[in-house]
Amino acid sequence: MFADDICLKYQDLKPEDIRFLLSEILSLPPSRLHSRLTFNSEQKHLFESAIKRLRTGEPPQYIVNNAWFYGLSFYVDKRVLIPRFDSEVLVEALSRYIKGDERVLEIGVGSAALSIALKKEFPSLVMHGTDISKDALAVAKINAERHGCDITFHHADLFPSVESGFDIILSNPPYISENEYQKLDSRVKDYEPKSALLAKNEGLEYYQRIYENMASYLNINGIVAFEHGFDQQARIVNLTESYGFKILQMGKDLSSRDRFIIAKINS
Ligand SMILES: C[S@@+](CC[C@H](N)C(=O)[O-])C[C@H]1O[C@@H](n2cnc3c(N)ncnc32)[C@H](O)[C@@H]1O
Repeated sequence: MFADDICLKYQDLKPEDIRFLLSEILSLPPSRLHSRLTFNSEQKHLFESAIKRLRTGEPPQYIVNNAWFYGLSFYVDKRVLIPRFDSEVLVEALSRYIKGDERVLEIGVGSAALSIALKKEFPSLVMHGTDISKDALAVAKINAERHGCDITFHHADLFPSVESGFDIILSNPPYISENEYQKLDSRVKDYEPKSALLAKNEGLEYYQRIYENMASYLNINGIVAFEHGFDQQARIVNLTESYGFKILQMGKDLSSRDRFIIAKINS
């Protein structure tokens, strides 16, 4: 059977979700899905039960416990936000400002996809990651181990209690306002952790709290890199400049929506 025929059979479902499941369950790269597909009995059973779960609205990445980010495979389940391809642009942009041996803090690591992508590219980085969710940190540790990355994880409200002196602080914090949250796709709202998405003050709560407390954690000439909501860039830039940072780069995501800023503390 061909992937196209299978997609036609399940017209109520998105073809890209079916193709993702096929690729994962048959262990085939997406580029091989155009050839005739064969299933053994276990794969057939897995695919059929995955289709049932997909019909309930569950994200396919949770169904197969895998998400791809920066060409790497990450274990995911409902304890963490599924890493988004849109966040890859921030990692790529930040890479250009990295020498290779900096001390980096990621606030709100979730699956640790961003930290691991950086650490794989720059193995000498000294990486620390925090999360307020112990569940998320358990997933982050699975992924760090899977990729052989030495990252120190801290269960903390934004900043670790025992470490400071970072050259780079990176974060994709929760940034969805209450109003926007209500409008989210049910696939996100019903399955992904609310605590990874929702933020007060029109979604700006975490940026404000991070800047308020940053001074004692960031080194002279330190860099900050933030992902943000598509309509938040001007406010994030204002906030960043009000704390004495110079904007190095403002960037867009894969759909050309404003998505991140990178800034340097004025020394
Ligand atoms: C938008 S998710 C980003 C996850 C991951 N970094 C990524 O980009 O896929 C935000 C993360 O911040 C964590 N978080 C929420 N409030 C926090 C806090 N006060 N301190 C540390 N982490 C927090 C959430 O648990 C979640 O894992």
